[in-house]
Amino acid sequence: MHVPGHKAGEGLPDDFASHARYLARLDATELPGLDDLHAPRGAILHAEQLAARAWGSDCTFFLVGGSTAGNLAALLATLRPGDQVLVPRNAHQSVWHGLKLARAQAIVVTPEPAPYGVPGAVPPERIARALEEFPHISVIVVVSPTYHGITSDLPAIVRLGHANNIPVIVDEAHGAHLSFHPQLPISGVQAGADIVVQSAHKMLPALTQTALLHLNGTRVDPDRLRDWLRVVQSSSPSYLLLASLDCARAELAADGLQRIGKAMMRLGAAAGRLEAVVPGLVNAGVDSGRQDPFKWTIATALLGMSGFEAERVLRERFGIFAELVHENHVLFAWSYASSQRDVDMVFQALCTLAEEDRTERFRLPETSEIPANWTSEAVLIDAQEAGPRAVMTIPLRAAVGKRMAVSLTPYPPGIPCVLEGETLSLSVCEMVLAMLDQGVRVDGVAGSEEPAVRCWE
Ligand SMILES: Cc1ncc(COP(=O)(O)O)c(C=O)c1O
Repeated sequence: MHVPGHKAGEGLPDDFASHARYLARLDATELPGLDDLHAPRGAILHAEQLAARAWGSDCTFFLVGGSTAGNLAALLATLRPGDQVLVPRNAHQSVWHGLKLARAQAIVVTPEPAPYGVPGAVPPERIARALEEFPHISVIVVVSPTYHGITSDLPAIVRLGHANNIPVIVDEAHGAHLSFHPQLPISGVQAGADIVVQSAHKMLPALTQTALLHLNGTRVDPDRLRDWLRVVQSSSPSYLLLASLDCARAELAADGLQRIGKAMMRLGAAAGRLEAVVPGLVNAGVDSGRQDPFKWTIATALLGMSGFEAERVLRERFGIFAELVHENHVLFAWSYASSQRDVDMVFQALCTLAEEDRTERFRLPETSEIPANWTSEAVLIDAQEAGPRAVMTIPLRAAVGKRMAVSLTPYPPGIPCVLEGETLSLSVCEMVLAMLDQGVRVDGVAGSEEPAVRCWE
């Protein structure tokens, strides 16, 4: 006589039951013996300890609210209102939301542009300069790997932070696999970062919303962290998700090196053969030591197509769905669970497209995709400043030159191209209109006929 209301799957609606009856048996609640995620003493504590051992951290927390919950709790546990935190401009919206909740001041640094204009690594020198210019920075946030799988020099950044006794938080949402193979770029955990947040569901065979937060050293109080995790996550965490997370952990611990190694060979062989067919098609121009081989950025101009056209053709003709699409590329996200059949299918599709003669070849636009309001200097953005004030909803075009009451965030990758409180520039406005035109979802844009946004009066 206890929740959930589907009663061990027996009461699920028929449509859903045919898919979910067996899984629903795992959808339990905090019964005696099943422990409590928010104050673990039994099975969950044991599973978290095994995860800490597998990833090499001092202590690991299971999350059921994605890296979003991990980033929010990490920032809330390390910042007080008015604190300054160093953040890369390409941080995911969950980081900006965390800063807003923590009422912190962001010192924003711009990553280096990688090929195709995507955000790349943040050079340690840029972080060192910002620390000199803003000596009160009390937390450093790094996004590594980026959505496109580009990693930063984490050991150098962690050394910089620790030399100043500043905790380093690594948003490693895309890097839960990195600790398990020596030929992959180094993970934040191995680099000694204080907090490392990973989405298990992105790069491991685990269910959506599963994630991990790893803690190292003594700069961050684990009790304060646990308290904030309780604030930002449900009081009824899903045991289905916890089971999925623990099973992924068990598989990696037992067999991760071998499984990841095999997948890297499959992908490496296919990427090598593609290089012979279309030089520069996959991950061109990124130092291979810094590039996660499980992410492929495909330069679609070399196939005579824009990214948008390639995404549509791959989907409609070959049944291949890309992770992300942009004007000049598509992104594929692999994992160690990707089969040889899938790798062959993508290889064949790309070879077919390369062979086709397109008379009207797509030309790369000359503009950079990094929005013009990203500067190479460290700039201060005050999350508190955007607090309550009069707001109006107006057409997107009319908002150029006005300060935004809402961030505009293309999804994926979930990186705001203009932040709440920033002034909307013409170039960002045009970039957003072009994306909307191509059917890209941009969070923060309202209006069914004409795109509209909320800005300060
Ligand atoms: C860099 C980065 N951090 C955090 C997140 C949030 O992860 P989740 O979807 O697991 O909440 C994402 C999601 O896309 C991301 O790309």
